[in-house]
Amino acid sequence: MSIIELNEIYTAYEGGDKPVIRDLSLSVKPGEYVVIGGPNSAGKTTLLESINGLIRITHGSATVCGLDLRRSGNEVRRRVGYVIQNFYFDPFTPFTVEEVVMMGRYGRMGLLKRPSRSDFEAVDKAIRLVGIEELAEKTIGTLSGGQQQKTMIAHNIAKEPEVMMLDEPFSNLDFNAREYLQGIFKNMAGNGTPILMVSHAFDGLPETRIHLVVMNRGRITYDNVCDADEVEPIIRDECAVV
Ligand SMILES: Nc1ncnc2c1ncn2[C@@H]1O[C@H](COP(=O)(O)OP(=O)(O)OP(=O)(O)O)[C@@H](O)[C@H]1O
Ligand SMILES: [Mg+2]
Repeated sequence: MSIIELNEIYTAYEGGDKPVIRDLSLSVKPGEYVVIGGPNSAGKTTLLESINGLIRITHGSATVCGLDLRRSGNEVRRRVGYVIQNFYFDPFTPFTVEEVVMMGRYGRMGLLKRPSRSDFEAVDKAIRLVGIEELAEKTIGTLSGGQQQKTMIAHNIAKEPEVMMLDEPFSNLDFNAREYLQGIFKNMAGNGTPILMVSHAFDGLPETRIHLVVMNRGRITYDNVCDADEVEPIIRDECAVV
């Protein structure tokens, strides 16, 4: 059983004249660690946004967590974690790190409900796991880029998603933080939650079988399993072809 099943999908941005993603099929099973590579503007972010129901699928069929993406976008977004590529918090954003991580629980709480003990526990656990305890009371806009990135990762871990998607989550993080967080994602995959990671930097990839997807010009040009140390050369080869 696949958690993500895309069959020959096309997606287009509102007002865009051409489909960004063309004739794309992808199947992701529980526990897979998927690395998505490819050059700038290949369509990697667009692929993640399509899986999250944020971009209209014009042709083809798509299910995520057994739900039809074209009908159940809201429910899919409740179940899928998504650390976005570029975010910016105004320095005066009034929310603390703890509050931002708690927002990861909102989809489970329902409207107007107060956080329960298990919500607080999930938030505490995520904050400890990512190692940002000392930031918990600080407002997010006053943190460094890397600290904000860790907070957004903790927010998505607290969500306890059925799929975890990350779009260049390490761009602001030092080597130790990258390696440590990669270990966390490997454990999540080991517990059955598939990881979809868009990245341009492959040092510190976990030693595990990788499901490698390479994109170019809106299509998938490579889709196979490989070892962690093969990821970079395969992407380099794939991108040299065009
Ligand atoms: N909001 C948008 N409206 C219209 N076109 C868009 C929009 N966002 C992206 N595109 C186009 O979609 C294509 C794919 O962009 P995308 O952001 O998915 O690339 P990417 O592979 O994530 O690149 P990068 O490595 O630079 O992040 C690009 O040609 C881009 O111009
Ligand atoms: Mg991108």
